[in-house]
Amino acid sequence: MLSLLLLPAMLAIRVMAEMELRVPEQPVVALHGSDVTLNCTFNQTGPFNFSDVSVFWQLTDTKRSVHEYWNGHDQLVDQAEAFANRTSLFPTQLAMGDASLRLSRVLVADEGSYTCFVRVKDYSSAALALQVAAPYTKPLLTLEPESNLHPGDEVALTCVAYGGYPEGDVIWQDGSGRNLTDNITLSVVANKEGLFTVTSVLSVVLEPNSTYSCRLINPLLGEEGFVFATITGQNIAFPQVALWVTIGLAVCLLVLLIALAAVCRRKIKESCEEARRESEEAKELEEEESKTAMTPLKS
Ligand SMILES: *[C@@H]1O[C@H](CO)[C@@H](O)[C@H](O)[C@H]1NC(C)=O
Ligand SMILES: *[C@@H]1O[C@H](CO)[C@@H](O)[C@H](O)[C@H]1NC(C)=O
Ligand SMILES: *[C@@H]1O[C@H](CO)[C@@H](O)[C@H](O)[C@H]1NC(C)=O
Ligand SMILES: *[C@@H]1O[C@H](CO)[C@@H](O)[C@H](O)[C@H]1NC(C)=O
Ligand SMILES: *[C@@H]1O[C@H](CO)[C@@H](O)[C@H](O)[C@H]1NC(C)=O
Ligand SMILES: *[C@@H]1O[C@H](CO)[C@@H](O)[C@H](O)[C@H]1NC(C)=O
Ligand SMILES: *[C@@H]1O[C@H](CO)[C@@H](O)[C@H](O)[C@H]1NC(C)=O
Repeated sequence: MLSLLLLPAMLAIRVMAEMELRVPEQPVVALHGSDVTLNCTFNQTGPFNFSDVSVFWQLTDTKRSVHEYWNGHDQLVDQAEAFANRTSLFPTQLAMGDASLRLSRVLVADEGSYTCFVRVKDYSSAALALQVAAPYTKPLLTLEPESNLHPGDEVALTCVAYGGYPEGDVIWQDGSGRNLTDNITLSVVANKEGLFTVTSVLSVVLEPNSTYSCRLINPLLGEEGFVFATITGQNIAFPQVALWVTIGLAVCLLVLLIALAAVCRRKIKESCEEARRESEEAKELEEEESKTAMTPLKS
């Protein structure tokens, strides 16, 4: 009797028992170019017909269709073109309450909010956020001008990193880890795929023995790169020393060549004169001989 009275109430509770959808509360981070699963599970586990399950994945803001499943099949007629051939559900998992979406070859443009809508006997929906990340290349540091540096010169240090997402932060520090905040210009340029090139220029007045470091921080991936330049007194002086050494060596070589040429000329002249003198002496000797030879004839 009691159970008969309770039955309608229990049925009511059963109908009232809403299906619950579970999606990640934190944004899902996916690497650009990789595949990602957007989890969406529901607790409707009782025996049900596949043809009774409908799953709709939509972009939350525009309501554009990302993936649809009903009547026991994927229904992709209305699918937004950007998602063509990149989405799939896990059909064998549906009966276990899993309506998760697999998204392949993630693009920067995929970033945003996605709504998972599931209907079995009851229906429910929930939204999750997808964030895209791409690591930057190791930063490169260049100096302008790059040679003939003297203490007191104003130098522009340029730190550049490519192909990352989202926008990276650049922190300049000196040798003792102090943040350098003056005279920094930052430019961020996106390529066709939406990936950024970050360029930061620090203008400083050179001090001898100073270190300048550039740290690149991707807000989603943490610190990514570090590069530094140490400008020593020697480095600053080096180009000048090299110049003067070169000039000095050149001058020495020239002087040596001239000296050598002079010596050679004198040697040649001397040997010529010697040869002449010898031939003259020989002539004289000959003459003398002829004289001596002649004398007996004379006398
Ligand atoms: C799903 O979970 C919610 C919250 O835990 C619960 O109130 C509801 O009864 C469950 N639904 C089913 C069909 O099990
Ligand atoms: C999604 O579900 C899978 C399997 O249950 C789990 O390994 C993974 O950590 C989940 N991902 C998120 C972002 O919750
Ligand atoms: C599933 O649906 C089909 C067609 O709608 C029906 O013939 C069948 O009885 C259903 N099965 C269950 C378990 O509800
Ligand atoms: C999706 O794949 C089909 C078949 O492989 C192909 O014809 C179609 O061009 C593809 N669509 C896109 C947008 O890549
Ligand atoms: C330098 O700046 C960064 C970001 O602005 C900050 O997180 C860090 O604590 C600063 N470090 C010092 C030593 O000021
Ligand atoms: C910033 O740059 C300007 C001109 O390039 C220069 O006059 C100024 O001294 C610099 N400031 C600092 C703090 O280096
Ligand atoms: C620079 O560093 C070198 C080697 O550490 C040192 O010999 C030199 O005196 C330093 N010069 C200045 C100006 O601090």
